[in-house]
Amino acid sequence: MSFNRKDILGLQEMSREEIEYILDTAVPFKEITLRPIKKIPTLRGKTVINLFYEPSTRTRTSFELAGKRMSADVINISTSASSIVKGESLKDTALTLQALGADVVIIRHGMSGAPHLVGQTIKAGVINAGDGTHEHPTQALLDLYTIREKKGQVAGLKVAIVGDILHSRVARSDIWGLTKMGAEVVVAGPNTLLPPELQSLGIKACTNVEEAIKDADVIQVLRIQQERQEKGLFPSLREYSRLYGINHERLKYAAKDVLVMHPGPINRGVEITPDVADSNQSAILDQVTNGLAIRMALLYLLAGGGGEV
Ligand code: CP
Repeated sequence: MSFNRKDILGLQEMSREEIEYILDTAVPFKEITLRPIKKIPTLRGKTVINLFYEPSTRTRTSFELAGKRMSADVINISTSASSIVKGESLKDTALTLQALGADVVIIRHGMSGAPHLVGQTIKAGVINAGDGTHEHPTQALLDLYTIREKKGQVAGLKVAIVGDILHSRVARSDIWGLTKMGAEVVVAGPNTLLPPELQSLGIKACTNVEEAIKDADVIQVLRIQQERQEKGLFPSLREYSRLYGINHERLKYAAKDVLVMHPGPINRGVEITPDVADSNQSAILDQVTNGLAIRMALLYLLAGGGGEV
């Protein structure tokens, strides 16, 4: 199949075939990231702009590295040092980047739908690097890649997503991606952190974490997003950790070869114990490594001209 999207905005709108195409495209890029000389000329002369209105370590750095490894000119816009602090609107900022010749704009924004507005405003490709509590499609793609790499396939696996589902754009993108790829998805967390729309997505939701992770092949642990929390959604972090934290004792409920994942950043000792995060069952750092391959693949598909990798 050929890939005909201008923008990567979410997995809700993507077909299983498109998702598989992106994962397959990332395979040779993963191989390139393991070579002694990692630079390729694929995006020479192209301009990639990182426009992050919220903090990021993994996503911003891996997009920057992906662009640089492919020989693109990569610009990082720090919102605190840009004309955004003078009140420039998102639309005018996007038009300015277009006037400067951007080929791809990667945007993270606290408002759901902000990347969609930018995508409608400019001719350049736009990649959603996380919008509010809506979607984080490149995270879900790297999660799917990691599961497929470690387990051979995604279809037929039981995947438990545990934690703050309500505020999580990763959970939403993971749910769309995993269900489209044929996985059984169960989510778990305190009632106050489970959004009501889960039923309409055909997802099983549990308030009992042991029930959710029973026989799970994969557990995706989510961060408690203290910056987005209203007060009073659960009594305390200590209580949350006791009832929902993923520790070795709890892992006994899951499949013997369960893969433990976390999109990061981790709150060690809150949603996951340090010994589990650092164990052989943990794929947390593999997720980060695979994020580079996925983001190289996406830049290639949007700006690489569609030739052989
Ligand atoms: N997983 C993730 O999006 O991490 P960053 O916020 O560090 O980009």
